[in-house]
Amino acid sequence: MFEQLSSLPPDPILGLLATYRTDDNPNKIDLGVGVYKDESGHTPVLQAVKEAETRLLQSEETKAYIGPAGAPGFNTAMQELVLGAEHPALLAGRVRSAQTPGGCGALRVLAEFVNRARPGATIWVSDPTWANHVPLLGNAGLEIKSYPYYDRASATLQFDQMVDTLQNVGEGDLVLLHACCHNPCGADLSREQWKVIVEMAQKQGFTPYIDMAYQGFGDGLDDDAWGLRLMAESVPEMLVAASCSKNFGLYRERVGLAMAIYNDVAAADRGQSQMLNAIRGNYSMPPSHGAAIVESILTDASLRANWEAELTEMRERINGLRAGVVESLAAAGAAGDFGFIQRQKGMFSFLGINAEQVQRLQKEFSIYMVDSSRISIAGLSQGNMEYFSKAVASIL
Ligand code: LMR
Repeated sequence: MFEQLSSLPPDPILGLLATYRTDDNPNKIDLGVGVYKDESGHTPVLQAVKEAETRLLQSEETKAYIGPAGAPGFNTAMQELVLGAEHPALLAGRVRSAQTPGGCGALRVLAEFVNRARPGATIWVSDPTWANHVPLLGNAGLEIKSYPYYDRASATLQFDQMVDTLQNVGEGDLVLLHACCHNPCGADLSREQWKVIVEMAQKQGFTPYIDMAYQGFGDGLDDDAWGLRLMAESVPEMLVAASCSKNFGLYRERVGLAMAIYNDVAAADRGQSQMLNAIRGNYSMPPSHGAAIVESILTDASLRANWEAELTEMRERINGLRAGVVESLAAAGAAGDFGFIQRQKGMFSFLGINAEQVQRLQKEFSIYMVDSSRISIAGLSQGNMEYFSKAVASIL
């Protein structure tokens, strides 16, 4: 049966972590996978999560099946977190959601769902986009095309080129947008630019599909959802894949939300029956634990306040590191202007070096980043910044 299978290289992001773990250089730095780390390089369980887990241990009364949609309380709380509690689409009863195993589960379920409505539909993704978008969406049957987004040479958005390409996209196609903290480039649409894309979606009729993996990591929970919420007010149909991995630090618990906004209530009910059927035929139903934690945090005022404070701390640490590394690279005499790192948002930026230089940093200094030179900013710290900057200066 399996003789004919060839082997594949390790995943470009996850494979790096495996190599990093076997490196015995005490100065090694992991800037690969997008996982928040504190100053000591540790990825802590948030206090609000610990507290919610303690309460859950006391209060949970059954481990019976939860159903394909997951927990209704989680879905409602997440819809309100993403859209804002008073969002017109919510008030009109046009939104339906399902709890999914992580943001990846949401991306895949929504892609399968779209493929039922429009088999082989085209989805336009930014160039570049997160590497795993391609298999998650493509393996579900969608055709992937890309629109220009980021110019590596100038480290800025190619907004005019993005608009030029998208102006030929119409009804029946989807456009994947990153709600905030673009992965991998860290360059986000401004509010003015969001307005332009929203107007294009309205006029041309393409369906926005928004990936919201980092809500709260850019400017704040509401600011980061600004463009998504405007889009959701302006178009009849839209999809959102949300993740709780980063903002709740629940990576391995796999918590996400697949949300669809429909033209009217009847379409929403029909659509949800298809979504749940797609889930049943895939993984049947989501795991419960992580989503129960999120529900408990979002529905309890004091836990929620604690969580928001911890989220603010993570965001501010990353923004501080962004400013710090720009200064530190300059102090180390690294050739070039790295000021763009401070202007960008969220977990990632491209350092802007080539694959050969990336390999040198790994081989000579045990500094790990993906070949594109995407760095996960939270892997830096006050303690390793100077080592990092001197190493970069030496290979430029
Ligand atoms: C990343 O891009 O590093 C994260 O989203 C984690 C992953 O699964 O790739």
